[in-house]
Amino acid sequence: MEKFVIQGGAPLSATIPVSGSKNSALPALAACLLTAEPVTLHRIPPVRDIGTMIDLIRYSGAEVHVEGERVTITAASIDKPEAPYEVVKTMRASSLVLGPLVARTGCARVSMPGGCAIGARPINLHVTALQHLGAEIRQDHGYIEAVAPNGLRGGTVHFDRITVTGTEDILMAAVLARGETIIENAAREPEVVDLAHLLTRMGAKIEGAGTSTIRVQGVDKLGGAEHTIIADRIEAGTFLIAGAITRGDVAVTGCVPEHLRALIAKLQQAGVEVTETAPDTLRVRVPGSLRNTDMTTEEHPGFATDLQAQFMALMTQAEGISFITEKIFENRFMHVQELARMGANIRLEGRQAIVAGSTRLTGAQVIASDLRASASLVLAALAADGETEIDRVYHIDRGYDRIEAKLNAAGANIRRVAH
Ligand code: EPU
Repeated sequence: MEKFVIQGGAPLSATIPVSGSKNSALPALAACLLTAEPVTLHRIPPVRDIGTMIDLIRYSGAEVHVEGERVTITAASIDKPEAPYEVVKTMRASSLVLGPLVARTGCARVSMPGGCAIGARPINLHVTALQHLGAEIRQDHGYIEAVAPNGLRGGTVHFDRITVTGTEDILMAAVLARGETIIENAAREPEVVDLAHLLTRMGAKIEGAGTSTIRVQGVDKLGGAEHTIIADRIEAGTFLIAGAITRGDVAVTGCVPEHLRALIAKLQQAGVEVTETAPDTLRVRVPGSLRNTDMTTEEHPGFATDLQAQFMALMTQAEGISFITEKIFENRFMHVQELARMGANIRLEGRQAIVAGSTRLTGAQVIASDLRASASLVLAALAADGETEIDRVYHIDRGYDRIEAKLNAAGANIRRVAH
């Protein structure tokens, strides 16, 4: 196991580059299963979840060639249209192969995800949507089996609630279904739009991605393509907050400011100066004191749940009471107890965290519980007096590409220690 040992207190100052988006790369890799021709993807971040998705794609029989951040996949034939439990239990996003596999081969067997640190996160909405496209679904021995021997057919899918990977899964199924599919109450996340761009390059006919109604005209087959993944808006947001919490001067480059509007608005409300110094660069500074700011997580374009924990760390340094409400996941507050060990004053009331600031943070031994919770602990540690040890950093490696190297280049003092 590895831990981070972080010496806090230094203001960060540098330009930090952003990697490709993990949550965009995952469906893009799954989409490669839809064609027998090679698909080359650029800017694939070398993070652990991507390695897991690549394992899953190899398991199905496709060839995967990785060269740095370029990945080429040729799914000439699919021998095993299956996502086994051993993989799905480590990464819920494995369910992203369900739609492509059933669309391409007429059957798919995907393990049901088990419990998850941030909430129940079932995949019932993926399953119901596939049934609307004519798939027969059986549930057996912990697996979901989807069968469509004569292929999928278009239909109207209305999601009861907005789901990001659910929208992506059904979009990948619909591109090869016969006739028209209408996806209502679709997720509008930039990652859905990026997937639609890739699928369109492969020959799919899609309209409305980025709005809540997506229309797809099914085609008989898709072909090879080349595509560059968008910037990781959550990584970018994490670095912007790192600049603010250390009262440094940080520019984040290679990002898409448009994807970060909700965070930018909240940072400004909190007294952080955010400037767009180039079309792909945002710079943060804190000219005065930080102010308490209420925030509620919502689907895009609202404030991303994946930045809630990091924003909470920042609010421990703001004067006054901040109300932080988590509306997407029921249990995404595991960082609260750990932040409290570092001196934060936070009370939990159901889905709301009430943060009283500002409090002095001090280095402590804490445990990372999930990806974004770990990021918030790193941020708190950067602002804390003394040394913090964060155990189980494999959580952070799931989604951040060399976070300690990027932050150290900006003046942080983070050591990765095996133990
Ligand atoms: N939900 C259901 N049934 C379903 C699907 C979802 O009840 O079939 C519920 C979930 O339990 C949750 C809500 O709907 O309460 C929204 O979940 P969603 O399906 O949108 O989440 P996801 O697609 O599983 C993606 C990201 C998450 C991110 C969420 C919300 C990927 C690979 N994952 O998950 O990212 O938090 O959308 O924006 O894109 C992360 O990167 O740390 C991460 C957790």
